[in-house]
Amino acid sequence: MAIFVALGSGSVVALLKRDQLFSCKYRVAFITVIPSRFSCTIGQWDSDEPVTRQELLKGIAGAHGLYCMLTDKIDEEILQAAGPNLKIISTLSVGFDHLSLDEIKKRGIRVGYTPDVLTAATAELTVALLLATSRRLMEAVEEVKNGGWSAWKPLWLCGFGLQESTVGIVGLGRIGLAIAERLKPFGVKRFLYTGRQPRPEPAAKVQAEYVPLNTLASQSDFIILSCSFTPDTQGMCNKDFFAKMKKTAILINSSRGAVVNQEDLYQALTTGQIAAAGMDVTVPEPLPTNHPLLSLKNCVVLPHIGSATYATRNAMSVLAANNLLAGLKGEPMPSELKM
Ligand code: NDP
Ligand code: DGY
Repeated sequence: MAIFVALGSGSVVALLKRDQLFSCKYRVAFITVIPSRFSCTIGQWDSDEPVTRQELLKGIAGAHGLYCMLTDKIDEEILQAAGPNLKIISTLSVGFDHLSLDEIKKRGIRVGYTPDVLTAATAELTVALLLATSRRLMEAVEEVKNGGWSAWKPLWLCGFGLQESTVGIVGLGRIGLAIAERLKPFGVKRFLYTGRQPRPEPAAKVQAEYVPLNTLASQSDFIILSCSFTPDTQGMCNKDFFAKMKKTAILINSSRGAVVNQEDLYQALTTGQIAAAGMDVTVPEPLPTNHPLLSLKNCVVLPHIGSATYATRNAMSVLAANNLLAGLKGEPMPSELKM
């Protein structure tokens, strides 16, 4: 068996090498994961930066399994380069929009991913981003540092609170629900949600009402994007969407950058059509430092850190390793993507 690991040895990942386990920072966690007698050869990208396309094309040739992450676009070219041996792809992410599923399915390749283990961390970060944006924390810290803090003043750095608010969630999935559960104790009055169909079970947990996207846009004080990225959600938040939002409303995106049309967002933020935006995800990633959105005080941009806690990344890497190994052994994966 041959495996290509598209992550560097400095990353928080489980690595197999000639029957042995190597893991730089979290060795202990992985020892229970990797069966000691699993015989395989490993090709590995040796840097913490994403693997280059060229190295991925080279490394995957003839591999039976691939351990990859969301920066690795696994498309027809890569699958062709892999050849017929490739039967398992294990991604260190719950999002799978970087995988060409049609091509993968056509070749009978199974896919493992990492749902659930990152839900809490991502929901927590989304709440942090919402509060940082709505209560203007970045601006406030900057004012303290640059001498702009002259005195306590009645309206200085006022923002918008969650108490008595309406929160709209686009995609009441695992993460969407976890966000709503964390926001409820802040005194949110109403939760609205939208998706392809009503989801009565999670909705009941937070008394969320299913509404069309337009209603969610026009009635929410805070709109949170926690949907998957698909052709249907691509560019979903565009100028028509922003035109329907309240002028005092705030948009938070922790799904994928391309769900938002960033040019339209810039217009909406600079013309006062909406109050503010917080984005953990952008197009491209990284966002160039001279991007117009970064010049705005009412836009908080984070570098895709939703799942970035040590414990979560550790759990993700263990799950991704288990998925890979189970798949290679022809067993059911702990988290296999249904295609
Ligand atoms: P789930 O599959 O549980 O949830 C996805 C949600 O997207 C579902 O509720 C689904 O609702 C909704 N959805 C799909 N299509 C549409 C549509 N056309 N309109 C509105 N909603 C839609 O996944 P998770 O909650 O685990 O993860 C969600 C996403 O979050 C991931 O796909 C990933 O992109 C992103 N993510 C980002 C992270 C970060 O670091 N910022 C970390 C982890 C995940 P329905 O089926 O009812 O339409
Ligand atoms: C995912 O898993 O899809 C995130 O974007 C990173 O954890």
